[in-house]
Amino acid sequence: MDGELLTGGGLNQVFRVGEAVRRPAGPWAPRVHELLRHLAPLGIAPVPLGLDEDHELLSYLPGDVGHVFPSDDASLIESARMLRRLHDATLDLVDVRDGWQHPAREPVEVVLHGDFAPYNTTYRDGLPVGIFDFDSAHPGPRWWDVSWAIIQFVFGLPHERERRALLFCEAYGCDYDDEHVLTRLDDAIRTIREHPAFVKQRAERHDLHYRGLIEYVQANRA
Ligand SMILES: Nc1ncnc2c1ncn2[C@@H]1O[C@H](COP(=O)(O)OP(=O)(O)O)[C@@H](O)[C@H]1O
Ligand SMILES: [Mg+2]
Repeated sequence: MDGELLTGGGLNQVFRVGEAVRRPAGPWAPRVHELLRHLAPLGIAPVPLGLDEDHELLSYLPGDVGHVFPSDDASLIESARMLRRLHDATLDLVDVRDGWQHPAREPVEVVLHGDFAPYNTTYRDGLPVGIFDFDSAHPGPRWWDVSWAIIQFVFGLPHERERRALLFCEAYGCDYDDEHVLTRLDDAIRTIREHPAFVKQRAERHDLHYRGLIEYVQANRA
C-alpha cells in the first residue's frame, strides 16, 4: 500500500495518502459517509472522499492525535462542547435506523459517535479540533457517548476525577450519572471479550482496566 501507515488505532490499518486517509470500510460505510457529509459544516470531522468495495477515502485531519492528551480543564471543556455540537447536528438523521454497525439503542436522541475518546481526537495548541473514526456511529441516547467520553477523557487520567466528570457534564449540558457510566463500562468489557475485531485489546487485557474503573466508580458513588 502506498502512503504512510498511521499508528495508534489498533483495529484498522490506516494509511495517509497526501491530504487523505485510506482505511478499511465495513458494510456500514455508506451510512457513516452520509453522517460525515451531514457533519461537514462543523469542520471537525473527516469529509468522505471515496468508497469502493472494502476501503474508504476520508480527508486527513491535521493536528496531534490524543494518544497522550492534555489534562487541563480548557481542553476537557472544549471536548464536551465538541461532543454537544456533534450530537446536536445529527438531530435530523435520528430516524435513519438501519445501515449502521450497531442497532439503534433506545431511547434514541441523536446519532452517537460511538467511540468519542482522546485517541480518536486531533489537537492543536493543546485544544481538541477534530474527531475521527466514526465506524461505531449509531442512533442512541446522548448519555451513551457522554459516559464513554467521561471514561476516556476524565478517568483516563488519575487526578480530580469527580470534579472533572462534573465539569465535563456541565460543559456538555447534562447531569452526571454513575449508573450510565457503569452500564457503558460493562458494555466495553463485553465488547473486548467477545468482538472478533478486538484481538489486540483482548490480548493486552484492556478489560482489566475497565473492571478497575467499575470498582472505582462503585467505591466513589456520588
Ligand atoms: N481522518 C483522519 N485524519 C487524521 N488521522 C487519522 C484519520 N483517520 C485515522 N487517522 C489516524 O489513523 C489511526 C487509526 O485510525 P482509526 O480511524 O482510529 O482506526 P481504528 O479503527 O484502528 O481505531 C489514528 O490513530 C490516527 O492516527
Ligand atoms: Mg480509532
